Amino acid sequence: MPKICKVTDKLGRTFEYNEGLEGVIATSSEICFIDGEKGKLLYRGIPIEQLAEHSTFEETSFFLLYGHLPSRDELEAYESRLKSYRPITGEILEFARKLGSLAKPMHLLRTIVSAAGVFDPDADNNSIERNAARAEELIALFPTIVAALQRLQQGKEPIAPNPDLGHAANFLYMLNGEQPNDYAARVFDICLILHAEHGFNASTFTARAVISTLTDMYSAVTAAIGSLKGPLHGGANEGVMHLLNEIGEIERTEEVVLEKLRTKTKIMGFGHRVYKALDPRAKILMQFSEKLAQLTGNEKYYNISKKVEEIMAREVGAKGIYPNVDFFSASVYHYLGIDTSLFTPIFAVSRVSGWTAHVLEQLHNNRLLRPRAVYLGEFDRSYIPMSER
Ligand code: SDX
Repeated sequence: MPKICKVTDKLGRTFEYNEGLEGVIATSSEICFIDGEKGKLLYRGIPIEQLAEHSTFEETSFFLLYGHLPSRDELEAYESRLKSYRPITGEILEFARKLGSLAKPMHLLRTIVSAAGVFDPDADNNSIERNAARAEELIALFPTIVAALQRLQQGKEPIAPNPDLGHAANFLYMLNGEQPNDYAARVFDICLILHAEHGFNASTFTARAVISTLTDMYSAVTAAIGSLKGPLHGGANEGVMHLLNEIGEIERTEEVVLEKLRTKTKIMGFGHRVYKALDPRAKILMQFSEKLAQLTGNEKYYNISKKVEEIMAREVGAKGIYPNVDFFSASVYHYLGIDTSLFTPIFAVSRVSGWTAHVLEQLHNNRLLRPRAVYLGEFDRSYIPMSER
């Protein structure tokens, strides 16, 4: 249930509001349906489980942007456009080189995407056609930018995109120059599907609020990256990996988790503003974590994750606190050989499809998003000259 805040202003008037806008409807949308009580998630009416089993990130991102599953020709043309948009241009690459070692990946991604808007002379052209093309360009560019930044931070040259590889496989290839095996590429492709869209989460709401002023898409996506970076949102998956490493050995799990709960420290990867049942994405990721643990022979991270889940179910399950999408994605990405610092940028690599789909939907029937706040400050104060202060 929403936490209702009841306040009285200095004129004696009483107001109530939902803390954190919990449960508040800001607009309507046709992109995503979430049943938090039953743990159900639909992208434009299709259950996430069916998309994870049958679709690809390319097909799912097309579906999110345009609202229908593409024909074979539409998908081939879309995939070809994405491949053509992958390479980062000279200016952006030079900008990335300058910034490369200065900050953490999410700060850099936010800055580079903002710079992409500077290098686009047509950035303020908000036509449907231009914004649809821009959405595709950003979906194609994010993996190249994230991989290039990672290589530069390692003191290595960025690896050019491989047009023979699909979206997911190409990202893994650009990280280390090696083509991933088919299973790893497919698991990562499904991770991208699972993270693509999730209704009015904080970063998507941010994107919609920004674009509702009729500014440009780069501004909306840059703001969304900043929101996703936060540890209460997309930044949680890195926090999960730090937790698993802090626990270190399964025997320490109970002690570490109970101490955190005792000190009211949030366990990263658990809880959700909407889900009060198991996040359906966590269920799928848990299965991949188990399989990858067996394939790699390094079952520690999966076993510790399951132990944390067991303890949290016992201690706080009754409060509707379950693993969310971030909890098992941490061990899956680790098993795929991905550096922890890339976990949240990878969330952005996927969610840029949901953000841009929502930006297009907001522009289709826009009204400025501008809520209110109850004023609890003073009334009837007068200016006091400095000499009298
Ligand atoms: C994502 O919105 C989306 O759709 C987001 C997302 C997406 O796809 O876009 O699903 C992705 O961001 C998932 C969430 C990732 N964040 C984390 O894993 C960080 C840890 N989780 C918590 O910070 C928290 O659960 C939130 C922020 C996710 C939701 O918080 P709410 O709805 O504001 O709930 P709350 O903080 O008011 O907590 C309610 C109660 C509190 O206990 P009481 O004070 O009532 O006794 O539940 C407790 C909290 O202490 N609680 C937790 C907890 N999460 C909530 N206790 C321990 N560990 C946690 N993780």
